Amino acid sequence: MYQRIFGVILSLLAFTPIASSQSNKPLKWKECDPPSPYPNVQCAKHPVPYDWGSGLSQYTTMSVMRVKSRTEKPKGTIFLPSGPNRSGTRLLKKYLGDNSSAAMELLDEYHIMGLDVRGISDHSPIKCNATRWNRRVPSMPKNLTQYNRMQQHWRKIAEECREMTGELLFDHMDTSTIGQDIENVRYNNWELPSKNRKMHMIGLSWGAQIGLAYVEKISAYMGNIVLDGITDHTQGPIGTIMAESAAFETTLKHFFDWTQANTHVDPTSIWRR
Ligand SMILES: *[C@@H]1O[C@H](CO)[C@@H](O)[C@H](O)[C@H]1NC(C)=O
Ligand SMILES: *[C@@H]1O[C@H](CO)[C@@H](O)[C@H](O)[C@H]1NC(C)=O
Ligand SMILES: *[C@@H]1O[C@H](CO)[C@@H](O)[C@H](O)[C@H]1NC(C)=O
Ligand SMILES: *[C@@H]1O[C@H](CO)[C@@H](O)[C@H](O)[C@H]1NC(C)=O
Repeated sequence: MYQRIFGVILSLLAFTPIASSQSNKPLKWKECDPPSPYPNVQCAKHPVPYDWGSGLSQYTTMSVMRVKSRTEKPKGTIFLPSGPNRSGTRLLKKYLGDNSSAAMELLDEYHIMGLDVRGISDHSPIKCNATRWNRRVPSMPKNLTQYNRMQQHWRKIAEECREMTGELLFDHMDTSTIGQDIENVRYNNWELPSKNRKMHMIGLSWGAQIGLAYVEKISAYMGNIVLDGITDHTQGPIGTIMAESAAFETTLKHFFDWTQANTHVDPTSIWRR
């Protein structure tokens, strides 16, 4: 009730007909469109404000998809964020198509929910100029001229993305905001008892960055969080590149050891999978 009154006051102040509590609604699960060929799959659309900090008057939409657990009493929900421009719902569909994936085992105890975070869902995608994106500009400049060209190229890409997408979305695409969005989905996932409404997450690649933004900001509801393929931007660029290079090299060495021990496998077949 307080929330509703507060929402009305806020909306009057902002001269907008939309109540601020718009994003505090339980998720409404429906059949997906198009319907999923797999059983126990449901979809929902959830509104989140462009700017959590001020106004709460204009909203964008997140698309979410879940597979229900095989048990009646699941331990919780595992969230799958993704990005940039990689869809968490598509990742979930990929797991569903692969019976051997570990995700299938997790369904014995958990729901799994794929998230299309803001800017990724089909309704309000980030749009950029593909022609310019596809132009090759050296990323390792050899002199000042090349450096300036590289800088101009990326600046122009950013400007065009902002123009094509609209500044409202473009200016609120940061990982910290996305962390807040995911928290809102967790909070509004009312079906489970509160002890089973912790944040369990598998964050792959950029999803790891989102997971990190989440735990930095909102740690009170943390469950089990897996962050894989992490590029930790809190480290600074040199530290990030060094950690990444060390990880690549270690993995490559493991791969060479593996190929030596498994001479019967054609290594190129791994890429063709
Ligand atoms: C996965 O398993 C289900 C049920 O066991 C089966 O119907 C389906 O064909 C399998 N899918 C694949 C891709 O193997
Ligand atoms: C995002 O992904 C979709 C689907 O793969 C693609 O059509 C679109 O061009 C991508 N957008 C950007 C900005 O890369
Ligand atoms: C996209 O970039 C190309 C150059 O790479 C430019 O000629 C074109 O005008 C740009 N389109 C838009 C819509 O900005
Ligand atoms: C910068 O480096 C490129 C590639 O090596 C070269 O073609 C170009 O002439 C150089 N420009 C200047 C101003 O040194």
